[in-house]
Order: sequence, then C-alpha cells, then structure tokens
Amino acid sequence: MASCFVTRELPGTALDRLRAEHEVDVWPGELPPSREDLIGHAREADGLLSLLTDTIDADVIAACPRLRAISNYAVGSDNIDSEAAAARGIAVCVTPDVLTDTTADLAFALMLAAARRLSEGERAVRAGEWRTWEPSGWLGQDVSGATLCVVGPGRIGSAVARRGEAFGMEVVTVGRSEPLKDALGRADFVSIHCPLTDETRGLIGDAEFAAMKPTAVLVNTARGPIVQTEALRRALADGVIGAAALDVTDPEPLPADHPLLEAPNLLVVPHIGSATHRTRERMADLAVDNLIAALG
Ligand code: DGY
Repeated sequence: MASCFVTRELPGTALDRLRAEHEVDVWPGELPPSREDLIGHAREADGLLSLLTDTIDADVIAACPRLRAISNYAVGSDNIDSEAAAARGIAVCVTPDVLTDTTADLAFALMLAAARRLSEGERAVRAGEWRTWEPSGWLGQDVSGATLCVVGPGRIGSAVARRGEAFGMEVVTVGRSEPLKDALGRADFVSIHCPLTDETRGLIGDAEFAAMKPTAVLVNTARGPIVQTEALRRALADGVIGAAALDVTDPEPLPADHPLLEAPNLLVVPHIGSATHRTRERMADLAVDNLIAALG
C-alpha cells in the first residue's frame, strides 16, 4: 500500500477507488494548499494527485524524497517541473481526451458570445437599455463564412477546427514552428490551443496583435501566459483588435480591480473549459487510474 496526497476533494467516486488501494490524505480546503502545506503533506507521499493550481517545482520535488508518481488533474502539466520529475524517475500523468469536446465547446461558446456581443446585450437588458428593436442595434459578426485561425491544432484545437467547419468557417491551423503572423492576418477569429511551454509563453504580444485585423476576435482557452496581458489590454483599448474572450488569464485568478477588466469588448470566464459534471468526473477517474497504474 502506497501513501498518496490528493490536493483537493474531487467530484464523483474516483477517490474511493484510490482509498481502496492506498492510504490517502486529501487536502480539506476549498483553496489550494500553501506551498508549505503542500510540502508538509507530500513529504512522505509516494503518489501525488495535483491540480493545475499546485506548483510542483524542483524544490517541491526535492522535498518529497519518496515521490514516485504525480498525477495531474488536468490535460496541461505546465504547473509541474517535468524535467526535475524525470531526473528523479517520477512518472508525470495528465488527463487527455476526456475533456477535449467539453473544452472545445467552451472555446466555441466564447467565440459565438464575443461575435454576437452576448454579454453586452445581457447587461443592456438588465440595465433597462432595451428600448425597441433597432435595425442597427447590437450588430455583431457572423461566424459562417469567416476565417478561424486555430493556434495549436492538437486534440482540443482540432475539435475546435471541426466545430468551425461545421459552422461554415474557413479554418487555418498553425502548428509548432509554422509561421503565425500570416495566418493571424487572415483570421476573423483566433483561438489559442497550444500548451504553455518556454516556447509559447508570451506568444501573442504587440507584434501579433498588430498583424491581426482590427475586427479580429481572440479566444484563449489554453493558458493565460500564452497571451501577454498588458499587450492585450492595449490592443483592446486602442482598437487594434475587435474583441477578446478568455477562459484563462495571467494572472489567474484575475483580481476584480485588474486593469485588463477595464478594456472594452472583453469577455472573461473563470477557467471553466472542462467544467461539466460528466467531464470533471471523467477527469477524476482518469487521474486516479493514472496514479494507481503509475504506483504499480
Ligand atoms: C486542463 O485540463 O489543463 C484545463 O485547463 C482544466 O481542465
């Protein structure tokens, strides 16, 4: 029987299966454990089931001498120093596939919401600003016939591309080491789906915004730091692009008084790409299966 630290309660019954096989300590808080608490609880653990909000860097790994497996409750693993884990022979596992369609749906929902100005319209109704049906009121953009640029055509990016095609969009994809700016310049909608790596951190900045159409809509459901926050704020404020719809931000969570929130034409939701009952339970099942398998 191995000893496991799980950094949050998870939906569904997956943790019961883990408890049936191993000794399990679950962090009881609704917020992530502090670094001190993380190390304190993981110090004697053989297995760690972490969330994307837990920073598992080289120092944390060094402080946990028994650690043999880290199972991340996410498809991304940018919160984990994978090189430090590999150097110690620690397995690092993630939860691909089970969240692909759910996250692609959210990306598409954000794109449609930004294109058709849903949050502005809703705010206007609540503020009593719906006076009449107006021929030129609340005009947005069509997605059918528009060009969608998918940056990072992996599992989720490809699922977004399929949705785009089904909506009658022309889809261009940009993979690793393919030229980005030409594709950005052609796009009416740009949706980010690459992982956060040293290579993609800050990928979208002033020069990339300048390459986009002034009506372009940027959607990010990948990781906040892929887009330079201050450059995005400027691009929206100065009308360099038309709108942005974000599921992820840098920093995250975005404080309510953050300057980015003053930018026009911005829709932000709180990192809910995979947030459906079924998907979060499937992620829990897979994260537990991964941990059990990696611990042997
Ligand atoms: C992930 O899995 O990496 C998402 O950001 C959260 O589901």
